[in-house]
Amino acid sequence: RVAVLDFGAQYGQLIARRIRDLKVYSEIVPGDISATELAALKPSAVILSGGPASVYAEDAPQVDPGVFELGVPVLGFCYGQQAMAVALGGEVGHTEKGEYGGVQIELAGHSRLLEGTPQQQTVWMSHRDAVTRAPEGFTITSRTSTCPVASMECPERGLYATQFHPEVRHSAHGNQMLQNFLFDICGLTPSWTMNSIIDDSVAAIRAQVGDARVILGLSGGVDSSVVAALCARAIGKQLTCVFVNHGLLRKNEPEEVEEVFTRQFDVDFVHVHAEERYEQLLAGITDPEEKRRIIGSQFWNEFFAVAQDLDGVRFLAQGTIYPDIIESGARKTGGKASTIKSHHNLIPFPEGVHFDLIEPLDHFFKDEVRALGTALGLPDHIVHRQPFPGPGLAIRIIGAVDREKLTVLKEADAIVREELDAYNERLFRETGERNGEGSVWQYFAVLPDVRSVGVMGDERTYARPVILRAVESSDAMTADWAKLPYEVLTRISGRIVAEVPGVNRVAYDITSKPPATIEWE
Ligand code: XMP
Repeated sequence: RVAVLDFGAQYGQLIARRIRDLKVYSEIVPGDISATELAALKPSAVILSGGPASVYAEDAPQVDPGVFELGVPVLGFCYGQQAMAVALGGEVGHTEKGEYGGVQIELAGHSRLLEGTPQQQTVWMSHRDAVTRAPEGFTITSRTSTCPVASMECPERGLYATQFHPEVRHSAHGNQMLQNFLFDICGLTPSWTMNSIIDDSVAAIRAQVGDARVILGLSGGVDSSVVAALCARAIGKQLTCVFVNHGLLRKNEPEEVEEVFTRQFDVDFVHVHAEERYEQLLAGITDPEEKRRIIGSQFWNEFFAVAQDLDGVRFLAQGTIYPDIIESGARKTGGKASTIKSHHNLIPFPEGVHFDLIEPLDHFFKDEVRALGTALGLPDHIVHRQPFPGPGLAIRIIGAVDREKLTVLKEADAIVREELDAYNERLFRETGERNGEGSVWQYFAVLPDVRSVGVMGDERTYARPVILRAVESSDAMTADWAKLPYEVLTRISGRIVAEVPGVNRVAYDITSKPPATIEWE
């Protein structure tokens, strides 16, 4: 494996992704990990990430100098180069002006890292500090007009570093450099493929579980579905999937989930029909946070009611994914225990009840989870499912939830999805890219708590409006409203008013996030 020492999370994740894209397994560890802890992970290569700090800042993360003595090749980027230089007796100073964005470098002499890349090329820089004197034994392998050491290396000791960011796509030959490092310098092979991942995961689940029973809360979402498919492959009928149907999923979703897991994967499937209990609990509740709280805590009531009735359950499988782990303080990577805010604590085990957790996806990024799902045979409508909130349609009905409103929203939402799925699919066929330029990331209908006047046929109506929400985003942190073609909007509006009884108007939400959020509640 390749260990990425992380000095500023954003960069660390991107580097880990690039290496994995080259079919080499990589893992992120905290930048200040000790050389002994790092050695225990037995890495075949070490990468020092960039980071926002200045190496001379008081609280700057330091790299343990022992890391350079492990006998494992080390490659540093940006802050990583500076940290390497300082640790090995070189110097770092302010350059007269910083370099930000695309910059030209000029190669200087032979370099194993830059081998096969052009004499002059564009790389991506973002720095003010720079190495001003390379440590003894290092060769300077490229420069820019302001940066005297754009890259340096000491092949005898297996040490390589760049001031620029080869992991960023704008560095035209960055990928070549990563390949040089991984395959030529470290002698690794690109063997981390979907098949090897599945084989390893299946073996690990079998070893952990033995002949015990495993229970899993299936939501219909990507992560829990992929865990279910993986566990089904590993332990078959020893897995019980509990699907708590709160009645707040979209049209046809409960049936689709049941169909996939009973027909295709043949697991022990428990469909808990909790629709009426949820209906009663939510009656008259208008506060969004109160709705969330009720829905969340009732889920665990329903789930544990089933779990406690089953014999021999020792494990609870969960769809925790790698970014959850990184964000919660690098739990399994020797990170600082004090920062760990494990979501395990969020499972409200009832008095006297405890299950050990299995989290087979805890080393994967979201799109790797999707690829895993596809390789395991899950259908596209699950693997490429758009984000959907746990509290479901309850937070898309403004005000109190009732059966009649749920029916209206489900029907309207089904039309929105049908039309925009088709729109995205058209773009995908044209561009070959999912979630590329112009495509819609999340789209749904919202039912506000108002009525408006309309005229249908010769009659005055006083009925509900439906709000269309469709956004472009990559991570839900920020989003922009989708600039949908007028004919698509016209079609959606026309179909909803014609096909959904009780709706006489459609409005389009043209607000970005911020200031609005994606959901209405
Ligand atoms: P907002 O509305 O905050 O949503 O812009 C950001 C993303 O999170 C989803 N979302 C939720 N997901 N439970 C969830 O599991 C929730 O309570 C919840 N609220 C919002 C939302 O769909 C969007 O993708």
